[in-house]
Amino acid sequence: MPVTQSKLEPMLIDGELTESTSASRIPVYDPSTEEVIVEVADASTAEVDAAIAAARRAFDEGGWPQTTAQERGRILFRIADKIRAEAAVLAELESRNSGKPIVEAEFDMADAATCFEYYGGLATKISGTVNPVPDNALSLSMKEPVGVAGQIIPWNYPLLMAAWKLAPALAAGCTCVLKPAEQTPLTALKLAGWLGKCGVPPGVVNIVTGLGETAGAHIVAHPQVDKIAFTGSAAVGKIIMKSAADTLKRVTLELGGKSPNIFFADADFEAAIDGALFGVFINQGEVCSAGSRILVERSIYPKFVDAMTEKARAIKLGPPLDRATKMGPLVSREQFERVRQYQAIGRSEAKVAIGGGQPKSFARGYYVEPTIFYDVDNSARIAREEIFGPVAAVIPFDKESDAVRIANDSPFGLAAAVWSRDIYRALRMVRAIRAGIVWVNHMQPTYVEAPWGGYKQSGFGRELGVHGIDEYLETKQVHINLNEQPIGWY
Ligand code: NAI
Ligand code: MG
Repeated sequence: MPVTQSKLEPMLIDGELTESTSASRIPVYDPSTEEVIVEVADASTAEVDAAIAAARRAFDEGGWPQTTAQERGRILFRIADKIRAEAAVLAELESRNSGKPIVEAEFDMADAATCFEYYGGLATKISGTVNPVPDNALSLSMKEPVGVAGQIIPWNYPLLMAAWKLAPALAAGCTCVLKPAEQTPLTALKLAGWLGKCGVPPGVVNIVTGLGETAGAHIVAHPQVDKIAFTGSAAVGKIIMKSAADTLKRVTLELGGKSPNIFFADADFEAAIDGALFGVFINQGEVCSAGSRILVERSIYPKFVDAMTEKARAIKLGPPLDRATKMGPLVSREQFERVRQYQAIGRSEAKVAIGGGQPKSFARGYYVEPTIFYDVDNSARIAREEIFGPVAAVIPFDKESDAVRIANDSPFGLAAAVWSRDIYRALRMVRAIRAGIVWVNHMQPTYVEAPWGGYKQSGFGRELGVHGIDEYLETKQVHINLNEQPIGWY
């Protein structure tokens, strides 16, 4: 390869770190300086085809599905160990590239390692069942890997989303073609360089960079790919589902939301204020499960808005690599402009408690002010549309039934949280809320052991936990006749 391409990050195709020959390149930015860190390839159709062909061969001929579960598990443990050993390097890279505070990036790296470890352990627990058929026969349900998985991930938790996709797929015996988000491919590409040494055979994991509309769409449409796992916008989820229909691929979609964070007057007030801010401002609000609709019982509403505002004032915006930073810049100019637009929409739809603009203290970088709108009507755009930035919509409610109605009046249903010291009320709410995840007296804790995914237009399928591996498994029914005579029909 010519030296002039030395700044181009290689992709992983068939076990080789491959420098793309594509004429098209994607600049990768540091969102705190708006400077280009490095370039990656917008993989050509031929390169994506090569990655898919490698994954196909590794599945059909390479013996990956036939490896023992113990072997696959040990490989995943080695990946987990490597991520732990390199956590500082990875966290710094993630923080620089995504804009998230370094301390949060460190948590993400630990979670990514834990995810590989969990599925390494689960590999040896995949088992089928014996079915009680009414005959002299042995009827089995066997679990088998789905095949080649196309995995398309977003930019808000880059390495962690790669882990959520790769770990269960590999444990199940699938092979993978993963496409990181164009904004944040760097940690997945770092991982790409280590997989071979961890024991992942050539072709089992392929990582290609490229634009969603080209490389991503090609993976989705490709007849040699058996399944698509996608995390991202609802708009792209719909495009993917339509395209996947042509080849009847299995599809799982995790599409974000407009999650209600619901506060009753009897909640612990201090914990509630903390939970409201944490729920919507963590990771700059670039979180699929962000508690972006804050529903507050009328009797505590004015006091709640004041306390939230006061505490939000102290959130320290700053460069992602500064350990004191609690909120970094947004990931990209596109996302920055999108959030700025919603801030303007919010100003015309509701009252501003704090923020609503761009902080003056930064000469450059995609920083926006943590923003709290109040007296928001649930029909407002800022209450219905996913903003994916630090913008909260506070909505008052009178009765428990009103809280339920407002919470469920959304096209989305990813997550929700309820804060109350009345256990009966909290449990009534848990039942009444139409969402895939409901937290009580907390918001956002996420564990690899517990299922993750949405209702309604937040998508379908579940990641994490034992549910997460099921999405990469087919069920084969096997009937073993134990009669030694002919069937005797003719
Ligand atoms: P996006 O949905 O366009 O991108 C997510 C991934 O999908 C990226 O890897 C992208 O390359 C790929 N992609 C895009 N178009 C594709 C296509 N036609 N076929 C196959 N793959 C495709 O998200 P974007 O544009 O970066 O952000 C827009 C909004 O999406 C955000 O403001 C936010 O509301 C939402 N979002 C939700 C996420 C979640 O975690 N659920 C994550 C990222 C964004
Ligand atoms: Mg997009």
